[in-house]
Amino acid sequence: MDQIDMNDMQSMVKAFPKMLVSVQISKETQDMCIKLREDDLGGICIIGMGGSSIAGQYVQALLQDSVTTPIINVHDSIIPSYVDKSWVIIAVSYSGNTEETLASHEEAKKRGCHPFAIASGGKLLSGVKGKNSIILPANYQPRAAFPLMFSTILHVVECLTGRELTDLKVISETLRKKQTQWEESPMAPNTMAEDLQYIIPVFIGSRHLIPVAYRAKCQINENAKTVAFSSEIPEANHNEIESFVGENEHEILPVFLRSNFEDDRMKQRFDITAQIYEDEGFAPLKLGIKSNSRIEEMLMMTYYLDMVSVELAELRGVNPISVDRIMKLKSSLK
Ligand code: F6R
Repeated sequence: MDQIDMNDMQSMVKAFPKMLVSVQISKETQDMCIKLREDDLGGICIIGMGGSSIAGQYVQALLQDSVTTPIINVHDSIIPSYVDKSWVIIAVSYSGNTEETLASHEEAKKRGCHPFAIASGGKLLSGVKGKNSIILPANYQPRAAFPLMFSTILHVVECLTGRELTDLKVISETLRKKQTQWEESPMAPNTMAEDLQYIIPVFIGSRHLIPVAYRAKCQINENAKTVAFSSEIPEANHNEIESFVGENEHEILPVFLRSNFEDDRMKQRFDITAQIYEDEGFAPLKLGIKSNSRIEEMLMMTYYLDMVSVELAELRGVNPISVDRIMKLKSSLK
């Protein structure tokens, strides 16, 4: 596998399959999680912001239908009052220095929650050591470190909820093969980027693809430095649908993220929604990628849309690495 160039977003995104399997959680951490579960675990609260928050949302979306332990995600400096000492807090911050994450983690520790930290360095790791932490490889852009964060959070939450650890090697291999075949299906990432170039995309997902739609929006915002939105079905059928009227059709591009695992009712909803948008003059894009499982589908689509965001940056002539406005805001708040 080629070296990853940390100054090149495309190189980082291309390393997605490799990164998915490059961090393992230790036996000690696994044993501790099993013990916490046996000690009557109240719930799991995953905290993080931006590029460090999205992986937790994927894990919640993936597992919430099959586990009985509550899993919540918090993107703020405060945590809900029902999070008490029977909960585990998984604080995720790639830099380890994000204000909101440090604040909510501190609050959780005061309440007696079991603290757990995932970071590449920074203050977050100083209070949480050994089996209660996972140290990520350094020097990535946080959003590009998504596969590292996803695999670690997934395995920690699986241990905490008594599930077998998902073997990510097979998925990693499938992703690696797929990266040479995008042209065949769905389409080359730069072709999709061309479709998004002069229009505002709204990525629309359902169920486990809701965080994938949100990730796509954020990647377009941060990498391609342009406006994008995301939403979800069925909720959008009860409000947003009213905004897709023929007068916005040249400004907005609905991008439907279609799942191989939609039930008949969901299929119908998507098809009818797309038809209504078309009748108003919109030209919706439908994105679906053949997959063997929901997790593979989430990761495959994410990998693909990450590539699209970098291609769009290239078309727009912007640097996908820099996040000047995020940095400016953070330093102004210091
Ligand atoms: C930068 C990025 C941001 C950061 C966010 C939180 O690549 O994606 O959204 O992830 O500002 O910072 P960290 O991840 O260091 O906690």
